[in-house]
Amino acid sequence: MKERFVVNLIPDEEVTDFFLVRDLSVKVGSNGKQYLDLFLADKSGEIRAKKWDVSDAEAESLARIRVGDILKIKGTVTEWNSTRQLRVGKLRVANEQDALDKRDFFKAAPEDPVKMYDYMLKAAAAVTDKDLRAVAERLLTLNKDRLMYWPAASKNHHAEYAGLLWHMKRMLMTAEKLCEVYTGLSRDLLVTGVIMHDMEKLNEMDADEMGVVSEYTFEGVLLGHLVQGAIELDRLCDELGVPDEKRIMLEHMAISHHYEPEYGSPKKPMFPEAEALHYLDMLDAKLFDMEDALTMTQPGEFSERVWTLDNRRIYKRTW
Ligand SMILES: [Fe+2]
Ligand SMILES: [Fe+2]
Repeated sequence: MKERFVVNLIPDEEVTDFFLVRDLSVKVGSNGKQYLDLFLADKSGEIRAKKWDVSDAEAESLARIRVGDILKIKGTVTEWNSTRQLRVGKLRVANEQDALDKRDFFKAAPEDPVKMYDYMLKAAAAVTDKDLRAVAERLLTLNKDRLMYWPAASKNHHAEYAGLLWHMKRMLMTAEKLCEVYTGLSRDLLVTGVIMHDMEKLNEMDADEMGVVSEYTFEGVLLGHLVQGAIELDRLCDELGVPDEKRIMLEHMAISHHYEPEYGSPKKPMFPEAEALHYLDMLDAKLFDMEDALTMTQPGEFSERVWTLDNRRIYKRTW
């Protein structure tokens, strides 16, 4: 049974417990020796771990460990640069006798996926433009099954059970408020844009039913969800008879929502709804990562460095 959770691990503490493998690789250190680099998790958080001085024979047996396996690890919690790590002494793959509860290992979005999905579907049904409504509703119904558990990322922002739906729903809630302030925005276009913008993450990554990404797909690596999104929109708009202007504007929102070429956007947003979509996306991703970092932080202290937040440490207020 699992007893210690990542969120509660204290530096210098010895631990023997179970952790889920989110990522692993055998690397060669600057001293020329091999080591195992692990990214571990449970439902409370994530932690990096290292097993130093791995022999060739050991490397061979470690190569059998897969992302998604649960390992029993005996090790020590270390702290470097205000980031905790685990130094692994012994490890083995968990088995039936360990009688583990899978739910101890997977983070889940805080709302029921069925309710989140219904919220999205209602917002899609409220789109007044019939072409955009058809696109929004079709995207949701086509992808319903996988949306119920799909994460929004492999690590960090919304890497959790039903994380993609949670990301879309909070963006949608914010989008609705935004349209009350910036009354020139087309609510129809923005709502459809939010529903569409990351939908192709379903085909960019492979995930299991606990919302864990095992790998990026061939298409995901070579194209990515922005371009995959534009291709899917092309197909869908053709099928639904959506006029070219609307189709191309939606496709522009798909390819521009990451804003910068180094994040995959070949164009920057060229109309207000596309601009707003990008900032809604950023806001939700950044606040998610901050909230997540703070779950592992004591009041009055700073979090560990957060890679996705430019290595910032986040302060948790005391009141
Ligand atoms: Fe995206
Ligand atoms: Fe997104």
